[in-house]
Formats: sequence, structure tokens, C-alpha cells
Amino acid sequence: MKQTDQTPWWQDGIIYQIYPRSFQDSDGDGVGDLNGIARRLDHLVDLGVDAVWISPIYPSPGKDAGYDVSDYCGIDPLFGTLADFDALVAAAHGRGLKVLMDFVPSHSSDRHPWFLESRSSRDNPKRDWYVWRDARPDGSPPNNWISEFAGPAWTWDEATGQYWLNIYLPEQPALNWRNPDVRQAMYDAMRFWFDRGVDGFRVDAAEHLAPDDRLRDNLPNPDWTEDMGPARSLFRTFSSHQPAGFDAVHEMRAVADEYEDRVLVGEAYGTLDEVVQYYGRDLKGFHLPFNFELINAPWDARHIAGYIDTYEAAIPKGGWPNWVLGNHDRKRIASRVGQAQARVAAMLLLTLRGTPTLYQGDELGLENGHVPPEMVQDPWEKNVPGFGLGRDPVRMPIPWDDTEGRGFTTGTPWLPVADGPSVIDQRGAETTMLTLTQRMIALRRAEITLRRGEYRRLHGDDHVLVFARDREDARLVVALNFTDRDQLVALEGTPLLSTVPGELPETAPGSLRANEGLVLRVR
Ligand code: GLC
Ligand code: MG
Repeated sequence: MKQTDQTPWWQDGIIYQIYPRSFQDSDGDGVGDLNGIARRLDHLVDLGVDAVWISPIYPSPGKDAGYDVSDYCGIDPLFGTLADFDALVAAAHGRGLKVLMDFVPSHSSDRHPWFLESRSSRDNPKRDWYVWRDARPDGSPPNNWISEFAGPAWTWDEATGQYWLNIYLPEQPALNWRNPDVRQAMYDAMRFWFDRGVDGFRVDAAEHLAPDDRLRDNLPNPDWTEDMGPARSLFRTFSSHQPAGFDAVHEMRAVADEYEDRVLVGEAYGTLDEVVQYYGRDLKGFHLPFNFELINAPWDARHIAGYIDTYEAAIPKGGWPNWVLGNHDRKRIASRVGQAQARVAAMLLLTLRGTPTLYQGDELGLENGHVPPEMVQDPWEKNVPGFGLGRDPVRMPIPWDDTEGRGFTTGTPWLPVADGPSVIDQRGAETTMLTLTQRMIALRRAEITLRRGEYRRLHGDDHVLVFARDREDARLVVALNFTDRDQLVALEGTPLLSTVPGELPETAPGSLRANEGLVLRVR
């Protein structure tokens, strides 16, 4: 996006999450790769987004789809080479697209040379790079923490007679962020990519950095039900959002600030109060701590209006908001709210104040797919089958066209290609999600008021949310009908865009049609 003033690109722009395994395969092995992404950059340009965040592409045994990194400064051959990566960054930059990598600091793979060393003996210099503890007298793990993917968060190492901490899989041992050498090694990894021109990172699982060093037991969650997964049976009282973790985030930010115009987007699931702490003291933490309010919210106008107000109020002064509807971990928006409301949701995402992040495939209205049991990839589903916790259904490859393999691969896809109308079918067609998303993005790009204006709620009831975006003398109004019935509502201004395909009303209507979202220019 052309800069006309000092506003950083990550405040004006839209981030698009690429899940590389499922974006585009170029070599017929059934797994998406870097050359595949390079081939599809035009899709992103057509869409109008400003930046891509690419989920992990580092060397990895793939126990957690790449979130188990065995080398922070390389590219997994599955995805290509470092040269392919450099070429992709150059091609993206050539089209005005920024590139964000995923940074996975809280744990490495158990195959990482650091862990192999750490595990080799108690007096190895890298022993303290991970979190090792003695068993309790009865031989049980040091505390009651539960792995996010089920089972104890501790794995016994027979050879050296201690447990290692694994917040996720045993194959994802937790790095010890209290050790200064670990921190320096990780900052050097960030610099490695910054030096190659990467524009920023999405920082994975930041809430788990540096858990309580006294390892106090987490407290039980009285409201737990089985479908939440075993880990949620405890509050993460002492394992998440700990002070030393926030210090680490500050240091990461200082590394990013050694370079110009870079951004850190942080993933930290927690209460709103916890999440906004990641802006950091004096805003020297993450530029954009992910705001997952819309992922968790029940889909009705009153709740959403409340979430927006609470979030707007919680952001520290000078902090910049952001919004997310979906990602590679959470149920797809079209499956949560249905196709018609997914259009309303897209309009909401792209008209709120703050940087939107769009998950690949949501621009096509993709739904959670069906993955037959024998094709299950996600370790979470394997560990806790049958509760719908598995994330494969949101990670299925993009349907690009209607050939065999749907343009994603000429081979056998690693997960079935997602159902639903392909990019080719949707492109240029009046009624499709792709067209609506493109128009919404184009409108956001054209209207500085949508990007920078203040948010003001005008009306919110059980069915309808109406808000204004105000900037100097300009006012745009967004009116969203969260129901599948017409709703009377007093509106003013000239309609600019509706989620309902077909001709736009010439003047402000006295009601919203079923599932209609409407943007109007008041002045
Ligand atoms: C984050 C990622 C998720 C991964 C986990 C462990 O939540 O988004 O996919 O499994 O961290 O790295
Ligand atoms: Mg491939």
C-alpha cells in the first residue's frame, strides 16, 4: 500500500495467513510448497491483501505440522530451499506484498540438535536450554500440568533420570527462556530472517514462554467439560502469561526494532486483560497481539457489539487493534455461522477499526471438511479422538480449479482438497464470496475512513449492529443484520456495498434484508 504519511504498513494493511501445506503444491508430492506460493501470488494481488503470514516452513519432523522446529534457520525440503524462499520474498516484494514468517519460540522439536545435546547428559552445557526437573518422591511428574494435546506436560527421560517439560507434544520440549543463551540464540534466528528481508513474525504460543519457575500446580477448572479437551480441565494459572514471558516479548521487540518497519504479531490465547498486556510496557511488546474475540464470540449482534466495545476500551493508549475470524487451529467461520452470515462476518472483519487477518480459504467461504479417520494428521485428534478437537478439517487444501486435484496438486494431497466452489468458479462471478471479499478489500483500500476512522457504535440490539467509522468530516456507516429475516432499521447515507448480491439501493433503505450487511457513506 502506498504510504502517504507515517502510518506503518501493518496498521493500514490486511494480513493473509497462508497455511503452506495446503496452499499450492508445485512438485506433485501432494504438499504445498514455496514455489507453489510463488505461483499463486496473483491470487493475493487480485484479492488486494498487503501481507502474508506463512505458517512454519522450517526443517521439522512434522509431528505438529511444522510447529516442531528442528532448525530455526533453514527451510524444510518438503517446502523447498532457502533459495526458493529468497525468490519468494523477492517476488512478493516485487508485487508490494510483505512477508511474515511464523516464529515458534516456546518449544523446539525433540530432534533439534540443541535438545539432542541437552538430553545427552545432565552436565551437557545445553542441559539448561530446556526445562528439566526431578520426579516427585513417588516417581510422578513434578507438577499437575497437562499437555495442550492431552497427557501430562512432562516426559520421563530414562537415560538421565529426569522429566522434560512439554506444553504440547513430548516431541515439542519447552525451551528454557530463563536461560540467556537460549534467548540470544532465538534472537539470532530472528535476525537471520530479518537480514533476508522478512517483514515480521507471527509469534507462536507466546503465553507459554517462561512458565513459573517454582512450577506450582495449576488450579482446577470447575466448569470443565470433556469436549474442551483434557488441558482445559485446569486453569493455566502458573503455566501461562508469566512475568518472565512478557520480558522475553519485550526483548523480541527490541530485536525487531533493530530493523526498519518490521512487525511482530503475537499469538497468546487468554482473557482480554491478558491479551492486551502483550502490547507491552510503553507499547514495546507485540505490535499486534492477536485479538481472538470474534473467533470465540457467540454469533449475535448484541454479543458482538459488546465484544467490540470491551476490546476497544481495553487497548492501551496508542495501541493498534486487530481482528481475526479464523486460523489453522479454529473452526472455519462459514461452518460456525453458515454461508450467508459468513458474508456478514467478512464485512465486519473488513470494516472494523484495526488490522484484519484473513485465513486462507475464508475468502472462498470454505467450510470445515470431512477427514476420514485413516487420513487424520493432527496429533490432537489422534490423542483425543471424536470430540471435534482435531484441526485437519480447517487445514484442507485450496480448490483452485475443477481439474483432478483441483489445481492444488497433480499428486495425492496430504489431506483431501476442500469442497466448495473453486477460485476459478468464483472469480468474476457476481454472487461469490471471493467477489464480495475483493470488493470489501477494495473499499477498505479506497476509504481511508475505513482504515483509520474512529469506531462508534450507533445501534445494537439482538439482531442488528450499526456502527460508524468517523474521520475528520467523513463518516461511513456499517449496518449488519445478524439474522435471516428482514430487520427494520433507520439508516442514512448512500449505499456503497451490500453483502446481498444484485443492485444496490440508491438511497438508504428503511430495513436490512435477511443476512444483509451494508456500508453507506453519510459524508
Ligand atoms: C499454536 C499454533 C498451533 C500449534 C501450537 C504449538 O497454537 O497455532 O497450530 O499446534 O501453537 O506450536
Ligand atoms: Mg510439494
